[in-house]
Parts: sequence; C-alpha cells; structure tokens
Amino acid sequence: MSQRKRELMFNLRLSFVYYRKMNIPIRPRRNRRNSSIRNMVKQSSLEVSNLVYPMFVTSGHKIKEAIASMPGQYRYSLDELLVKLDDVYARGIRAIALFPKIEEEHKDSLATHSYSKSNHYLNAIKEVKDKFNDLIIFSDVAMDPYSSDGHDGVVENGEILNDESLEVLAKMAVAQAEAGSDYVAPSDMMDGRVAYIRDALDKEGYKNVGIMSYSAKYASSFYGPFRDALDSTPKSGDKKTYQMDFRNSVEGVREAELDISEGADIVMIKPALSYLDVIRDISVASQIPVAAYFVSGEYSMIMGAGELGYLDAKEAMYEATCSVRRAGASIIFTYAALDLAQYIKEDNI
Ligand code: PBG
Repeated sequence: MSQRKRELMFNLRLSFVYYRKMNIPIRPRRNRRNSSIRNMVKQSSLEVSNLVYPMFVTSGHKIKEAIASMPGQYRYSLDELLVKLDDVYARGIRAIALFPKIEEEHKDSLATHSYSKSNHYLNAIKEVKDKFNDLIIFSDVAMDPYSSDGHDGVVENGEILNDESLEVLAKMAVAQAEAGSDYVAPSDMMDGRVAYIRDALDKEGYKNVGIMSYSAKYASSFYGPFRDALDSTPKSGDKKTYQMDFRNSVEGVREAELDISEGADIVMIKPALSYLDVIRDISVASQIPVAAYFVSGEYSMIMGAGELGYLDAKEAMYEATCSVRRAGASIIFTYAALDLAQYIKEDNI
C-alpha cells in the first residue's frame, strides 16, 4: 500500500468513528429509499388523462408534412389525421386540441372563412367526432389562421379592434360547436369575449358546449414554431397590445377571475414552463379546473437539446411536465403527449 493510500485510509477510519457518534434523528432520505416509498409519498402525479394533444390539420388528401421546427410533429390532412388518431386513442389519450392551417387564398381581414361552410377545419371536427365519440375536442377560437393580417383581432390602421373582433369570434365559436366541438377555446385575448361567446352559444342552443379560455396568455417568443406550423406570423407589428406582458403576474389572476365571472369552464395559462408562478397563483385562486399549455417553443427547446445530445429529452420532458402539475395545473396541453403516455405506461418513474 502506498504512503498516500495509507493516509487516506487512516483519515477515513477517523471520520467513521467521528460520524458514528453523530446523532441525526431526522433523515429526509428515509422517504426516498426505494421507488415504492417514493411513489407512496409523492405529492403530485402525471396521468394520461391529464394530457391534451395539440394537432395541426390542413386541407387536401394524403398529406403528412413534418414541421421543421417541431421535431416529431406534423400537419395532417383529414384522412391522415384519422389514421394518426387511432394511435393517439390506443395510447389512452382522450383529449386533443385541433388547429387549422388555412390556405392563403382563404384569408381576409375579417377571417370570414373561419365560419364558412367550406372551412375544412369545421369538417375535420365533425369527422373526428363521428369516428371517436368519446375523444374530447378543444377547438381554437382566434382569427389569426384566417386573417390576412395574421392577428387575433380585426386590424384598423395598425390597431387591433376589440369589440369588432368579438362578433367574428362568436360566429366562429358557434360554427365549431355546430361541428361537434366539446370545448371552444378562445386564444385571442380580446376583452369580454368569454361572456360574448357564452351568450352566442346559449342563444344557438349549445348550452353544453364548454369554454376553455386562454386567460393568462402572454406575448411570448415561445410561440415561434407554432406560427411556422400554421404560417400565422403577424404581417406587421406584434401581439403585445392584447397578449399579456411577461413581466406581470397579478394581472394573470385578474384575467382568470374575469373569465370565470364571464362563464369560462376551464382557465388556461400559456406558456407553461416560464410561468409556473402564474400557474400556482391562478390554481390557488380558481375554483374551476386550471390548464397550462406547454407551447411549441418549450417543446422544441427540449427536443432540440435532446437531438444535440445535450440531455435525455424523454426524461427532461417528463420532469418539466411534472413541474407544471406540481405548480397546480390539472390539464396540460403538450406536443409530447404521446411520448409521455408511453413513458408513464412503461413505469419509468
Ligand atoms: C393563436 C395561437 C397561438 C398558439 C395557440 N393559439 C399563437 C399565437 O398566439 O401567436 C401558440 C401555441 C404554441 O406555441 O404551441 N391564437
């Protein structure tokens, strides 16, 4: 034994004698000893029933286009969407959010195609509902995919008009309810839209169609890949006069409370990962279910790092999604829903 090693052994024995005498009655590690104990004492959990899978639907046939900035995500024509949904359904997922990709020729300043009988999106909602009766459909109520300006409201001289936009949103919501949507989901951030849409739905007899409101939706650069997917980037300006300022949190609670008082059935915070404090605050204040949207940029950030070998994307995704549950959201919209369902099933936890 070398001199150096002898010294080390001597020191180790000394410290062992010393520590044996230490009295540490409180040992948090006892509750982490094995996976049975860890599972028993866990304070939050992620189940497949908590997940909503957002999907993009385009017109045409036999189309399954990869979205370059969102690894593993595609734009589907209806036939391909129905094929993919067999897989989604088989994995136990029972909720999807559908977003439309609209051809440039159908866009105008008042987003009239959003409630037109020839809108392929409305047909897709109907066909999906016919085939998968117990699959919950969240449909998106916002003008941007249909707007020649790429904004969520009517634009006049560079200004996004609030009250004029409500009429369009209400027509769109009614058309989606008629197609068979379970929850219309206004993602536009116009003031007063929840009450206006609720009133329109009730007048048309859709009293059981719910409203999931994007209540605290922030003006975020994490929506970038989604706008690539739908080709819905604003043609001019940004969305800061209607989407929230990310330096604020209390305002998020106010927006959620307003939407609840206007008749929302679910409130949402979006994005999720950079807004865990807002998710917590709204969860504590809200007496209705709270959802969070793990948005495109948050998804791509983790997937991209995984592809570069910087981290294990599956594990990082599970951890990040659990943080959203831990913050208080019961429902999570995520592009990783299928991988997460698999991860949970294989009991990797
Ligand atoms: C548009 C809408 C957006 C998202 C959902 N609905 C983009 C935006 O507000 O510009 C973003 C979703 C995502 O990034 O995954 N009304």
